[in-house]
Amino acid sequence: MAAAVAAAASSPHALLRRNPNPISNNTPRIHALNLRSAANNSRRISCVASSTTPLHSTRPASSQSPDRVFNFAAGPATLPESVLRKAESELVDWNGSGMSVMEMSHRGKEFLSIIQKAESDLRQLLGIPDEYAVLFLQGGATTQFAAIPLNLCKPGDEVDYVVTGSWGDKAFKEAQKYCKPKVIWTGKSDKYTKIPSFEDLDQNVHAKYLHICANETIHGVEFKNYPTVRNPEGILIADMSSNFCSKPVDVSKFGVIYAGAQKNVGPSGVTIVIIRKDLLGIAQEITPVMLDYKIHADNNSLYNTPPCYGIYMCGLVFDDLLKQGGLKEVEKKNVRKAQLLYDAIDNSNGFYRCPVEKSVRSLMNVPFTLEKSELEAEFVKEAAKEKMVQLKGHRSVGGMRASIYNAMPYAGVEKLVDFMKDFQARHA
Ligand SMILES: Cc1ncc(COP(=O)(O)O)c(C=O)c1O
Repeated sequence: MAAAVAAAASSPHALLRRNPNPISNNTPRIHALNLRSAANNSRRISCVASSTTPLHSTRPASSQSPDRVFNFAAGPATLPESVLRKAESELVDWNGSGMSVMEMSHRGKEFLSIIQKAESDLRQLLGIPDEYAVLFLQGGATTQFAAIPLNLCKPGDEVDYVVTGSWGDKAFKEAQKYCKPKVIWTGKSDKYTKIPSFEDLDQNVHAKYLHICANETIHGVEFKNYPTVRNPEGILIADMSSNFCSKPVDVSKFGVIYAGAQKNVGPSGVTIVIIRKDLLGIAQEITPVMLDYKIHADNNSLYNTPPCYGIYMCGLVFDDLLKQGGLKEVEKKNVRKAQLLYDAIDNSNGFYRCPVEKSVRSLMNVPFTLEKSELEAEFVKEAAKEKMVQLKGHRSVGGMRASIYNAMPYAGVEKLVDFMKDFQARHA
């Protein structure tokens, strides 16, 4: 554990642990919130937020249109409203072309300019070195569970999986069909609330790769730094579906990064793969053409008809993230939002609980339970009446889960926290 914690302490996420109150200006903020009581009476209450929420954080008028809900879904998830508005304005006629992006040939100059800008903005955001290919694919991250071993292994090859949650487990199970994977660590007995210390990992020195899920969406555990692969020829592979572009990442530490777009960077239907180019071209012979990374890399993701509109939407999100100042700035906002929510849980005298070990709590997916579990359905129902939706936890773990991806405004987390305090006051 020591190494993981020490390394994590040097990361910006350490903010969450070192300084529990980094944004306090010690000025209690008072604001009113319309809340409907369980008895269905509409009433106006005042919530005195803790001094962790400064005056200047009151929601900017632009943060959300009144007709939109705060959507805490795990994915497909909320998108920046500004991006949706831009897409709306271009829906029927993109850039004077007289066509919707949905109607364009994927080989025409208009769409080529869209996909090229999307790729170049993503490269800029993540600082992706030239030795890496960026692929815009289909099939979701689930398809990558098979594509990874098919592209990188022969059937007899040994590979290692660290299983920190359900997605890592699914990736491991799929790999069993195509190579010889081994689970070298699993958090199952702790209900997936931990990340292992890296020196305790019993890595196979012959493993072709070490696979991790950088952020387990269901359980809310996130790697804050990454293990070094023991095999000098081996590579690190990460499923970053639920924390992709939520913070800077040193891409050069990985052989492959993959992510479904539908949490942080776009609609469902686009899967992004970032792969070191020297790993292309060694796929098993049985690999379907649609899963062969080299085919897609050689054809700039245009081997067949790509998910054009989804790629366009991802491009708008990348542009927006760059305009926000890039991933360092985005990470700061994510830390601040997560801090507010975890503080509310931890300061509730046990009324709310987050089971995840503090040092590895996800900035993106915050699972929590109620001490009085019989109130959980009521909590979700009342929150929905207040236009905060999709707070029910995953069916496999129960409780609640607030997914607070890049596009969730600070005001959304503020509103949730205010609601949680009020709910507690009424049910404690
Ligand atoms: C971390 C992670 N990996 C993989 C998946 C599967 O993604 P998809 O549904 O796009 O196949 C998900 C979906 O929620 C996920 O959160």
